[in-house]
Amino acid sequence: MLIKLQPQHIPLLNSLFDKIIDTGDFEYFHPHPFTTEQAEQICNYTGKDLYLASIDNGKISSYGLLRGWDEGFEIPSLGIYVEETYRGTGLSKRTMEDLQDFAWKNGAKRIRLTVLKNNKKALALYQKLGYTIYKKYHNYVVMFIYNSLLKS
Ligand SMILES: CC(C)(COP(=O)(O)OP(=O)(O)OC[C@H]1O[C@@H](n2cnc3c(N)ncnc32)[C@H](O)[C@@H]1OP(=O)(O)O)[C@@H](O)C(=O)NCCC(=O)NCCS
Repeated sequence: MLIKLQPQHIPLLNSLFDKIIDTGDFEYFHPHPFTTEQAEQICNYTGKDLYLASIDNGKISSYGLLRGWDEGFEIPSLGIYVEETYRGTGLSKRTMEDLQDFAWKNGAKRIRLTVLKNNKKALALYQKLGYTIYKKYHNYVVMFIYNSLLKS
């Protein structure tokens, strides 16, 4: 279950950021810098965007964000990171579905995401969940999913 990151989560988010740097995963996931200052800013953030995480055994097992509302966009951009030891467990799908629920509850009609073309696992995950390709540029693919609850 995803919760909103709060000031008490700063050390947890900071350790996750260290892992993202140490593993080189920032090559695939780079929505913002992975510094202590950034972790503090996120955990103290009170704006319209959402910074969420699932916590297991005293560490962040998955981290997700929905951004863009603060800048005035109607469509939020989604980002997801699953901690290495939780990959292949189904947590990625659950985290995506929770993020989507947060977006729909906040009135989003669709969600946007950007993924590197060579990030096969992420692409497979998004396609399976119903995201479709909107455009390709350089090494990136931009995808959207619509709020199916609004279609009927
Ligand atoms: C991308 C990420 C969230 C996926 O989570 P995961 O737990 O590793 O992925 P899953 O095991 O759920 O796999 C997702 C799907 O990819 C497919 N897949 C797995 N390995 C694959 C590979 N090498 N090539 C193609 N597809 C692959 C599987 O079919 C799987 O679907 P399944 O449930 O039918 O088996 C996670 O790897 C991660 O956080 N990576 C680093 C950060 C990142 O890339 N974030 C996304 C930025 S856009």
